[in-house]
Amino acid sequence: MAATAALPSIDTGLVLGAISTSVLVVGADGGIRYVNGAAEQLFACGSAFMCGHRITDFLPADSTILALVGQAQGSVNSVAEHGVQLDTPRTGHRTVTVQVSPVVEQPGTVVICLHEQSLALKIGAQLTSRNAARSVTAMASILAHEVKNPLSGIRGAAQLLEQNAGEDDRVLTRLICDEADRIVALVDRMEAFSDNPNVERQAVNIHRVLEHVRRIAEAGFGRNVRFIESYDPSLPSVLGDRDQLVQIFLNLIKNACEAVPEKGGEIILSTGYQHGVRLALPGSETRRHLPLVVSIQDNGSGIPEDLRPNLFDAFVTTKTSGTGLGLALVAKIVGDHGGVIEFDSVPRRTIFRVMLPMVQDGEVK
Ligand SMILES: Nc1ncnc2c1ncn2[C@@H]1O[C@H](COP(=O)(O)OP(=O)(O)OP(=O)(O)O)[C@@H](O)[C@H]1O
Ligand SMILES: [Mg+2]
Repeated sequence: MAATAALPSIDTGLVLGAISTSVLVVGADGGIRYVNGAAEQLFACGSAFMCGHRITDFLPADSTILALVGQAQGSVNSVAEHGVQLDTPRTGHRTVTVQVSPVVEQPGTVVICLHEQSLALKIGAQLTSRNAARSVTAMASILAHEVKNPLSGIRGAAQLLEQNAGEDDRVLTRLICDEADRIVALVDRMEAFSDNPNVERQAVNIHRVLEHVRRIAEAGFGRNVRFIESYDPSLPSVLGDRDQLVQIFLNLIKNACEAVPEKGGEIILSTGYQHGVRLALPGSETRRHLPLVVSIQDNGSGIPEDLRPNLFDAFVTTKTSGTGLGLALVAKIVGDHGGVIEFDSVPRRTIFRVMLPMVQDGEVK
């Protein structure tokens, strides 16, 4: 057609360079023939270097992606898989959708497309839980008012009775006091949800916070767990409330300790700096850079599938003595700090990642 013939031709390299899906072309011998810009970023490596190497130099031998490449090389159809875990020193841990398509005209050559599970999806889930946390906030104030006050009256009355009670009745008055204390402790935990606009934000060294929480864990619920620390000492400070940051990691590490096997339980605490994640969070116009990433990884059995969509909601629990408030509180505090929390879970490897803003010049006096 005359109208289209006049249009300038488009360089396909530029087109592939502009898309956010990582594209790699691999020959029959496993040699990398082409990578686009997104793939360079994903593997933190330049195209010239990658094209001189094999795909097996960038992926572990047991990688699902290599298995899919093998399948596609012997076929004329594309193969795809969702929720594939990509975990290499270059890429870090990511969950991707993989599609491998054979180039039928060149037998053995395949095109690999890797698409990372969008952060937006994860954040969407987190914002939903923020709403859930808000309803807990309202409930917490009601409980504090309507339950705690009468309870202190009941407890006081039981103590008065105790003074004149015989030995048998004293067992009962003690029972009343103990149970009242237990309910007060539960309500206290819920009160942590109530909005406190006067939190003191200051520059907090996140490694000191993790150190503190690890010590608490080792002295109690994490006694039999091996902790491995992998910290980036050059990390800048977080702008936050130290006690609340302790609460975040105490809850995450406690959950991890409760998930790992009794023997051989292992928790990896790591921190790092990431470029490029900018987010506009509710209530603020500006997009904020969230460069600090704290990960808590455990080798437990993983998060049950049916829990995942509502994991950060209040009262979601699989434990007989759990309240299901831990992660709801974590999501609320992370959100209050302008951060984001996400998780990836397969058996023997569950990772919670908390992304936080760093202190910027002029923010702390
Ligand atoms: N690291 C993990 N591995 C496996 N499952 C987890 C992990 N962290 C959380 N979960 C699951 O999520 C549920 C909710 O966790 P959350 O911390 O909110 O409550 P809880 O631990 O059950 O109770 P509480 O925190 O009050 O003791 C847990 O019951 C558990 O099933
Ligand atoms: Mg918990």
